[in-house]
Amino acid sequence: MRRVVPAHSVQGTVTLPGDKSISHRAALLGALSVEGVTVTNFSGGADCASTLACLEKMGVMVRRCDPGTVYVAKNEAFLEPGDVLDAGNSGTTARTLCGLLAGVPGLYAVLSGDESLRRRPMGRVVDPLRVMGARIDGRAGGASLPLCIKGTRLTGGTHRLQIASAQVKTALLLSGLSASEPTTVVEPLGTRDHTERLFDFLGIPCTRRDDAITIFPCEEVKGGAWRIPGDVSAAAFWLVAAAILPDSGVHLPGCGLNPTRTGMLSVLRRMGLAVEVTEEDCSGGEPVGDLLVRSASLEGTKVFPEEIPSLVDELPVLAVAATQAKGITEIRGAKELRVKECDRIAAMAEGLRTLGADVEELEDGWILRGPVRLSGGRVRSFGDHRIAMAFAVAGLAATGPVEIDDSACVDISYPDFFETLETLVCRGCAVS
Ligand code: S3P
Repeated sequence: MRRVVPAHSVQGTVTLPGDKSISHRAALLGALSVEGVTVTNFSGGADCASTLACLEKMGVMVRRCDPGTVYVAKNEAFLEPGDVLDAGNSGTTARTLCGLLAGVPGLYAVLSGDESLRRRPMGRVVDPLRVMGARIDGRAGGASLPLCIKGTRLTGGTHRLQIASAQVKTALLLSGLSASEPTTVVEPLGTRDHTERLFDFLGIPCTRRDDAITIFPCEEVKGGAWRIPGDVSAAAFWLVAAAILPDSGVHLPGCGLNPTRTGMLSVLRRMGLAVEVTEEDCSGGEPVGDLLVRSASLEGTKVFPEEIPSLVDELPVLAVAATQAKGITEIRGAKELRVKECDRIAAMAEGLRTLGADVEELEDGWILRGPVRLSGGRVRSFGDHRIAMAFAVAGLAATGPVEIDDSACVDISYPDFFETLETLVCRGCAVS
């Protein structure tokens, strides 16, 4: 249980953790490269550690150098893992590895995860892989972990995704690297394109036209060295904290600014937040910049279904911001939140109501009316890192302490979250 005490303001500079999505992909592509990849600012979260541990069990060379620096390289060939590959809490690990393993002829692997992950849907990745010829079996006919994968040579082909999911897209593109024909993925809505950017950066042939991405069979993956940008999904907690607390100012250097991930910035700007972006740069094919954010008078807004993929992980903390905004905020088209690490729509509705917010739970989002002065109270994280962190931000703006049960789950993506929060909060301090 973690107790977050109200704060007057937040002020300071945050060293952001490395982007979780990009860290997973760097490790996966390193595993396909003889030269290997060396990345700094690799995510220190438990999810990316799960990816590294699974790769090691497959015979991949993983060297953890100074804190945050990781070298990953291919050994001769993948080894058949001697034990179950444990993806822990990480949907990205489970789904992307499923794609990678399905195309390794002869390799037999069993993939599982924790209780939360074993409840999450896997059919979305298993079904299209089976169309490519994958031999995958598992619980509920392959709809749930554990999955048994017997690698084989896949055929490629064109796949129209039913759900906008970067994890599924990545799984299919990775499987396409060893397929006999090109593999095309057509997305219903554009999702984060880190995989495609890394393909370009590491010389893997991949083309993009409108909503279609095509990967060509590729035997040789180049190596590379770069810095993983700061995680914009982690930055979102500080953006909201600064926005809703008076007299606040937070500087977030080196934040990833990939336009497929910055929907939160657009929505917060629409709500009245002034975010300054400076020092733009590029790292590993990804745009990076420094953010400076100050308190704002937020107004309610509508978040549309087509915006959801660009801020899907930020929606819990956006709901917190909406409780402090004047008027109505309506968030629709986010049904995917029901199958994340927990049912995030229900979890946020429950906890925000406990804190006195005016929140209506919809099948695919929420309607929130504000501003409401949040009270203290005890809320449940459901073991979901983003829910725990969203309620911590709510606690800063509440009139009394917010107690978050099972708060250790922040380790999944942001182990330093509470320490960083303590360095930023001012309880009754002067304006700087
Ligand atoms: C991720 C994609 C998103 C996101 C998840 C990370 C990725 O999931 O919610 O936290 O790294 O590809 P979906 O692909 O299920 O939308």
